[in-house]
Amino acid sequence: LAPRAWTTPSAHWPDVAALRAAHDSHKGARGDVLVLGGQPAPAGGGVGMTGAAILAARAALRAGAGRVWVALPAAASYIPAFDAGAPALMLRSGDAAFADALHTRAVVVAGCGGGAAMAPWLPRLLQEAPRLVLDADALNALGPVAATQASPDTIWQTRAQRGWTTVLTPHPAEAARLLGCDTAAVQAHRLHAAEALAQRLQAVVALKGSGTVVAAPDATPYVNTSGDGLLATAGTGDVLAGLIGARLAAETDGRTPEMEQRMVAEAVAAHGALAQAWKRAWPPAANDLIA
Ligand code: APR
Ligand code: MG
Repeated sequence: LAPRAWTTPSAHWPDVAALRAAHDSHKGARGDVLVLGGQPAPAGGGVGMTGAAILAARAALRAGAGRVWVALPAAASYIPAFDAGAPALMLRSGDAAFADALHTRAVVVAGCGGGAAMAPWLPRLLQEAPRLVLDADALNALGPVAATQASPDTIWQTRAQRGWTTVLTPHPAEAARLLGCDTAAVQAHRLHAAEALAQRLQAVVALKGSGTVVAAPDATPYVNTSGDGLLATAGTGDVLAGLIGARLAAETDGRTPEMEQRMVAEAVAAHGALAQAWKRAWPPAANDLIA
């Protein structure tokens, strides 16, 4: 195999000094993020993953997003009124909240802990969300749809229609499901797998794991060099999804596909830098990264 060219992103984001210097700024100018996921446990007992959506949303807030909503699926179960750890988050639930949220022009980060609730929401999301990041269970729900469609145009709006490139953040097993191969094959050919997914689905693809690859159609991929084994703990992927959402939300004018790919790579680089900056004796859990 011929060696492929790639470049390394830098982690000069978020730019806290620039945020301080923007005296005429307001929350509407910092960008809106909506996290869609966090399937609650059924009242009678079962699997709940509300924490994944909360982690993504907290990460987006900490990364400088102006307003962050969390839309949880309606279920006959407990839904928290607010997040005690980050009261600025706006928690919503049910289909109405989801529909309202699509009108905000927020970057929609979908899938974190979404479970089976993602599938019914997915078609509307793919067609209507102005800017879209698909993670975890949104990717798992997307697989069966993508397998039956000839082209990305029939799965979601093209970049020309939406004005933004859709972003996918699979870990190797999620990428393997989308590609119809096994995880070992993805890991043996990470650059190739990320580029194949990006090309096939006409999306920006962050293939996670050590040396996260950020590929885009017809573009040189980025390979991230920040981060380390401390990130190998549940929830760090949700934090990354929130960071990517905030990075995309911060930028509204004059974007090109190249800029969108680079923004995703910058968020990945910043995520890795969080782990490397960890100085304490004990390793962080995912929420400590953004504490
Ligand atoms: N070096 C660098 N980065 C790493 C490393 C490593 N050794 N290990 C993990 N990471 C990074 C990845 O690049 C990614 O950004 O940590 C993040 C992990 O993301 P995910 O794999 O999506 O993990 P997460 O969703 O937080 O939790 C895993 O999801 O698939 C389910 O059931 C699974 O419980 C599991 C959960
Ligand atoms: Mg994940």
